[in-house]
Amino acid sequence: MDRRSFIKSSCISCASGIGAMWLLQACTTQKYVTNFEIKDKKLTIKKSEFTVVKKDKTIEQKFLLIKPDNVSFPIALYKLNENNYKALYLECTHQGCELTPHETVLVCPCHGAEFNSKGEVTQGPAENNLKTFEISYDKENIYIQIN
Ligand code: FES
Repeated sequence: MDRRSFIKSSCISCASGIGAMWLLQACTTQKYVTNFEIKDKKLTIKKSEFTVVKKDKTIEQKFLLIKPDNVSFPIALYKLNENNYKALYLECTHQGCELTPHETVLVCPCHGAEFNSKGEVTQGPAENNLKTFEISYDKENIYIQIN
């Protein structure tokens, strides 16, 4: 491959990557939950928060964001299936940047680490999984124990 071809293919790859990231962000709908209770370091979030009605359309959120006053980073509450939730602390385990959550992936804007919706590292440079929180639930609510 000559120099010109290399530069051209590199530019195309770079533009594709940027386009994919933009598309990923554009398709993600984020919802911050402001209507939550906190008592004895336990957050209570209504399950109905996952359902959003917009212009006569009902949308099921894949995750919710919660930012209690006493924690430095938001918490992403993922609904993996009907009765399986995961609460992830959005602090990158590499060098502590705030992650950007999407439907199935969380991306670090600092150095590109990625995590799945269970908090597991899927791409470095981060080596450790995300901090998670203990969860319980009943028919109406989800409870997140923040320590
Ligand atoms: S701080 Fe997240 S990848 Fe470096």
